[in-house]
Amino acid sequence: MIRNRQARGPGARQIYEVLRAQILAGTYGNDGALPSSRALASELGVARATVTSAYEQLSAEGFVRSRQGARPRVAAVLDRNPPISPMVTGPAPLLLSRYGERLALRPVPLPSAARPALDFRYGDLAASDFPTPIWRRAVLGALAQRQDRLSYGHPAGSPRLRRALQGYLWRARTLRCEAEQIIIVNGSQQGLDLCTRLLLDPGEGAVVEDPCYPMARDIFAAAGGTITPVAADQDGLDTSRLTDVEARLAYVTPSHQFPLGSVLSIARRHRLLAWAEARDAFLIEDDYDSEYRYDINPVPPLYGLGHGQNVLYLGTVSKTLSPTLRIGYLVVPANLAAIFTRAKQIIDRHSPALEQEALATLLESGAYERHIRRIRRRMAERRNALLEGLRYHFGDRLAVEGAKAGLHIIAWFRHIPADREEELIRKAGQVALGLHPLSLLYAAGSAMRPDRAGLVMGYGGLDVRQIRRGVELLANCAAEIESGS
Ligand SMILES: Cc1ncc(COP(=O)(O)O)c(C=O)c1O
Repeated sequence: MIRNRQARGPGARQIYEVLRAQILAGTYGNDGALPSSRALASELGVARATVTSAYEQLSAEGFVRSRQGARPRVAAVLDRNPPISPMVTGPAPLLLSRYGERLALRPVPLPSAARPALDFRYGDLAASDFPTPIWRRAVLGALAQRQDRLSYGHPAGSPRLRRALQGYLWRARTLRCEAEQIIIVNGSQQGLDLCTRLLLDPGEGAVVEDPCYPMARDIFAAAGGTITPVAADQDGLDTSRLTDVEARLAYVTPSHQFPLGSVLSIARRHRLLAWAEARDAFLIEDDYDSEYRYDINPVPPLYGLGHGQNVLYLGTVSKTLSPTLRIGYLVVPANLAAIFTRAKQIIDRHSPALEQEALATLLESGAYERHIRRIRRRMAERRNALLEGLRYHFGDRLAVEGAKAGLHIIAWFRHIPADREEELIRKAGQVALGLHPLSLLYAAGSAMRPDRAGLVMGYGGLDVRQIRRGVELLANCAAEIESGS
């Protein structure tokens, strides 16, 4: 519940509004019990009568059923899936910081519990892909190793994990660094947050690719950065457009442009580094899915090409183990390691220790790399099923891009104009098929935005059978639009 900056508890009206929104959002389910008026009053620091008055109003409007001596319950009025959380769409609360105000200006839907049965959402893995037996053993081993005290760990992460990652990065990515340069973070997103806090002031420029990973663009914008989108094409970020751009940092995905899937060419890599070095700007290299390459050789990171001062490298286990673990790693220039460690410390002390030790065990034993080899084969099968399905159902009515690596492809519909993309997605939603538009990943008003409908199709969370069925459903929806119905 949002309270304003004065230390007064909320009034009955505010309590009513929040509870009503929560009921509508399905927070308590149908017929679910709400907090007792006594418990809620004590939690909010208000008189019990204030809460009772809110409950009376909800009861009068038919949202709750109250019975003497029992907790109020949600009246079974909700027969639909819960909408997106009201927190996202509700009015911005008063008295936010500038950061809060900037965030409130860019509302986005939060992940919803109600997901389509077949969802080509990028970023998902299938639950069966998780190496449960080896992870369980590693976690139990880490539990057994705990000393007699529970005490805070090193803010930059478990020394064991940092050493293990140092070896892994060298073996898998030919990236050489000292273990001290590695900061363990809660997913790439926290790595981006650290970079933003430490390297970007409000009003300073942040270059992003166009189209771009929106979670990066949003973090720079929320920090007050001036976003400069620079076009990306089949060779990655078009560095010829950087010549006159002044910025403090650039966020890039050189190994596998997100979302288009291209690789930043070697000439452009050198130009990008020269651009950054000439301005003392930083390059944030997001190497989010380099483990998945099917028809092409691995591309060494940009990190190794520089002089060790300007590039920050970001990796994650979100694509190899699970996005739910929230483990990522940032490799920073040696002279920034101390300040990144300090920033991580004041944000959250350190990332959860048990999982860090478990991951260290997997890396040390070679189980992590064996697991990657196993799921890479699986992902290749899924990708092939998707490509075959699209070829079979669409022929040359659809063009595919970015299929050589990663866990998603881009699908362009030759006969569906961009202004009907939304309709395609809506139609798919009606048959419980989750589709995700490419257009949202372009900057607002971007000249790069194509005139055809396009989708980002993630296949990591679906098995081959689901992929085939999903493509069949997609073909039906697309055919209806193409035929004008
Ligand atoms: C470009 C990009 N970077 C990073 C990530 C992973 O983020 P995290 O490590 O915070 O889960 C994703 C996930 O989809 C992504 O698309």
